[in-house]
Amino acid sequence: MEVKELLKTSIGSLELKNPVTVASGTFGCGREYAQFFDLSLLGAISVKGITLKERKGNLPPRLHETPMGLLNSIGLQNPGVEHFIEEEIPFLRQYDTKIIANVNGNTLEEYRELSSILNKEDVDAIELNVSCPNVKEGGMVFGADEKMLRKAVRVVREVVGKCLIVKLSPNVTSISKMARICEEEGADAISLVNTFTGVAIDSRTGRPVFDLVSAGMSGPAIKPLALKKVYDTYQAVKLPILGMGGIASSEDALEFLLAGSSAIAIGTALFSDPLLPVKVLEELTSFFKVRSMRVEEVCGLAHRGGF
Ligand SMILES: Cc1cc2nc3c(=O)[nH]c(=O)nc-3n(C[C@H](O)[C@H](O)[C@H](O)COP(=O)(O)O)c2cc1C
Repeated sequence: MEVKELLKTSIGSLELKNPVTVASGTFGCGREYAQFFDLSLLGAISVKGITLKERKGNLPPRLHETPMGLLNSIGLQNPGVEHFIEEEIPFLRQYDTKIIANVNGNTLEEYRELSSILNKEDVDAIELNVSCPNVKEGGMVFGADEKMLRKAVRVVREVVGKCLIVKLSPNVTSISKMARICEEEGADAISLVNTFTGVAIDSRTGRPVFDLVSAGMSGPAIKPLALKKVYDTYQAVKLPILGMGGIASSEDALEFLLAGSSAIAIGTALFSDPLLPVKVLEELTSFFKVRSMRVEEVCGLAHRGGF
């Protein structure tokens, strides 16, 4: 079989030419990265979180480095859905890659309205972000509460015919329970993890670093935690998983596939190496070629005795 065929994978009805995608909020809409590499190399791009209206985001500071990780408190800054439709979709459509629209709201009504608007636009999938830890209202409130999560997936499913991916929060007691709710409400796939909540305190001033105190933790430091969420979710539901959390090499990417991801997303590691997706794709390509295995065969293999 040709290597092109070996690399093909799918997340529900979303067919990808390869399993390498980029995580929402770490890639903008790709413009800055297009100067480094051809975006058509990517299986998909999950764009920066979109809201109905423009959001200015949180007060600075918004980023704080930790050993092997990053805390962020961006607060979903974005120019709003109209701008996304007029400027970013035409830009992204120049490339042969799938567009995943990351949808955010403060209320159920906002989630429904925004999803309904985007469902009619030229995007390939909707990623329902119910797990943003950096906003005062909405966001994680939906992803951390079983009833709210159920309602959010239900109202969005009613208006979305395209592939619906629910992005889950790792800040819950049972990720399996949350994934099952998504499955029961008709989601097509799960993406996880969003950031873990964390706090930074400035020992010189004695005050929390971030205005909202709590921030979202990402990067290599969270990889084993994220991998466990993927592993557990794979056992709990039949839905395909878009796995992420600290991926910084092709070995990391492979671990997420073995744990049960059908595709992976690279996030924070892009900040130190914007070319990482190309490197990961090249290395995965030779891996699958040498083994003569399909991505879909490797997905979840850690649960079936490994290689
Ligand atoms: C600066 C920053 C902004 C983010 N913005 C979003 C966002 O708008 N929507 C979303 O669903 N996730 C957002 N995330 C979460 C990432 O998509 C990803 O789930 C998380 O960072 C874990 O992956 P990583 O450790 O590889 O970065 C953001 C993460 C970072 C670091």
